Amino acid sequence: MKFDTPAGINPIDQLKVVGKPTDRIEGPLKTTGTAPYAYERHDVVRDPAYGYVVGSSIARGRIDKIDLYDARNAPGVLAVVTAANAGPLGKGSRNAAKLLGGPEIDHYHQAIALIVAETFEQARAAAQLVRVQYARSRLSSDLSLARHGATPPGSGKPDTAVGDFAGAYANAPVQLDVTYTTPGHAHAMMEPHASIAAWDGDQLTVWTSNQMIDWGVGDLATTLGIPKQNVRLVSPYIGGGFGGKLFLRADALLAALGARAAGRAVKVALPRPLLFNNTTHRPATIQRIRLGASTDGKLSAIGHESWSGNVPGGRPELAVQQTRLLYAAPNRLTSMRLATVDLPEGNAMRAPGEAPGMMALEAAIDEMAEKLGLDPIEFRILNDTQVDPEDAKRPFSQRQLIQCLRLGAERFGWNRRNPKPAQVRDGRWLVGVGVAAAFRNSPVQKSAARVGIDSQGIVTVETDMTDIGTGSYTIIAQTAAETMGVALDRVIVRLGDSRFPVSAGSGGQWGANSSTAGVYAACMKLRQTLADKLGFDAQKTSFSDGEIRSGKQRVTLAKAAGESGIVVEDSIEFGELSKQQQLSTFGAHFVEVGVDAATAEIRIRRMLAVCAAGRILNPKSARSQVIGAMTMGAGAALMEELAVDKRLGFFVNHDLAGYEVPVHADIPHQDVIFLDETDPVSSPMKAKGVGELGICGVAAAVANAVYNATGIRVRDYPITLDKLL
Ligand code: MOS
Repeated sequence: MKFDTPAGINPIDQLKVVGKPTDRIEGPLKTTGTAPYAYERHDVVRDPAYGYVVGSSIARGRIDKIDLYDARNAPGVLAVVTAANAGPLGKGSRNAAKLLGGPEIDHYHQAIALIVAETFEQARAAAQLVRVQYARSRLSSDLSLARHGATPPGSGKPDTAVGDFAGAYANAPVQLDVTYTTPGHAHAMMEPHASIAAWDGDQLTVWTSNQMIDWGVGDLATTLGIPKQNVRLVSPYIGGGFGGKLFLRADALLAALGARAAGRAVKVALPRPLLFNNTTHRPATIQRIRLGASTDGKLSAIGHESWSGNVPGGRPELAVQQTRLLYAAPNRLTSMRLATVDLPEGNAMRAPGEAPGMMALEAAIDEMAEKLGLDPIEFRILNDTQVDPEDAKRPFSQRQLIQCLRLGAERFGWNRRNPKPAQVRDGRWLVGVGVAAAFRNSPVQKSAARVGIDSQGIVTVETDMTDIGTGSYTIIAQTAAETMGVALDRVIVRLGDSRFPVSAGSGGQWGANSSTAGVYAACMKLRQTLADKLGFDAQKTSFSDGEIRSGKQRVTLAKAAGESGIVVEDSIEFGELSKQQQLSTFGAHFVEVGVDAATAEIRIRRMLAVCAAGRILNPKSARSQVIGAMTMGAGAALMEELAVDKRLGFFVNHDLAGYEVPVHADIPHQDVIFLDETDPVSSPMKAKGVGELGICGVAAAVANAVYNATGIRVRDYPITLDKLL
């Protein structure tokens, strides 16, 4: 199905099942421990051997000599895989650094060997016996130094300019010129990267934990140099991803190589202390923001420049993305520069670009509002735009930023805020409140599904879409139930298998809207097929209560399906409409903090998010997405930081003891409100994404609240107490 006209009425609009806060249909499997995760597939793989990954202990250079003798002869060892014996390996298009290094080393903890043994303990013990002599290269691991050699990145749009930024800024009666820094962030998902690989002749099956099945199949086939159709990836349950599992990683590749070398199924998990430097992270940024405004608060000039670093061939952090779209101003400048930095590979993490970009922009907006003597909500509203500020011919498909700010202000009690900082005391606590806009683009992607109806009237949906903890199973079941007119418990959903039609996958907050739209397309085809079979006019046929109804005629789905059942496949493809209009999601974050007047300990006391993200397919799972994202935003504001060893080029705090993320005690009451809206352009579902919107702006709202509490602006995230003293 091609979708390129504004959505009319369709079966989803009945909202009998879609839009309800349905519990997760796979919830009982997860809470009883019976949903099989990648490393636990004892139900399908018998007697696997164990692979243990050896990571490089230098960040850049060469392996001069690698002595594997003792490791090979250690008890239980079945095989040792290195770049020297793995055979020719290609490189997947989405990996900048190789997944199996050697002799050249691209980053610290890059995999250089896999030890395969009968037991995990034997593999781990033998891994300690690998002796490596390295030749180290000189390192440049400090972004603040490397930025001076940064260049425009080859991919994406490094620069945009509208009007005369320099002139308008110079002439602006009120100016702000501030630089913010954001550190690297780790995905820190609960389930580490893990895979089991088994070969049957030249056919490879990998049970893994991956957000994008089709990307993974393609990159694994390319890396191994085998046809794509010889690779099957299975990933039905995933314990979190956040972008860390968008791409093929070392666990899957090395499990495949280890299984080939050992002639037996092999399982590989990346141990937590290895994972932080072995896989990808959100890159650190340096962001300079310049704002020029008239004394009445109209922005005349917006400038945002961002510097980030990566391994050679890596991409920049797109931290200026939101600044191109969020506020009106006739004169504009954005630019991104990319430096080579000798650290592990940087890549997508939850709202790549906007998440760190909003940490700077929305704090700078707060600073400017104060300079202007304006309420920060009114300042934002004054500079709202309903069209792409870089291209006035492109309207937003739906933009209710103002409504989010106003509703949030009312619910949060914004009018009780004292605009003068450091005025409010509650015992030993200095209390402050802050606000930030939320903004995240909401792309659409082609997505396919297979839908069948059997002689019992059971609807089965198969698509390679993944559920990374987001609720995909449930919203897909709701979509099929709504479209086919059956109860939710008459729908079976199978996900995460490359044998199923290729979906949008879970990334870029496009998953929910795009994958359900693909399921909708397949269901509409099934409706047409059933109507044709019965000789009904599909336009005048309704599907309800397990029946197909046309005029006075009623036939049960089970009967219409017949003994052999009917299976169809279709996809949704998005035409030009989403290029002519800008699809983005909006919101407002409100935060109240307390800062201990003596110790500067910072505690979040209240949080509220108001989101405008099109139709909310399931308010319960959507709310869970947003409170999870708000929690991650609280971490970004106050604790998360990959600490760089600039001499040795690695992240020092590479485990969950040193890399701090919020725990329950750090998170207060959180409220989430969704505006009741539908997007006419986003898809037949009229939905958008919420999983990444929920993080964008949170950290700035915290920073603004800390300023309101204390009168201290910290422009160097995370805001730790030492920076307030
Ligand atoms: Mo997301 S960073 O595209 O998983």
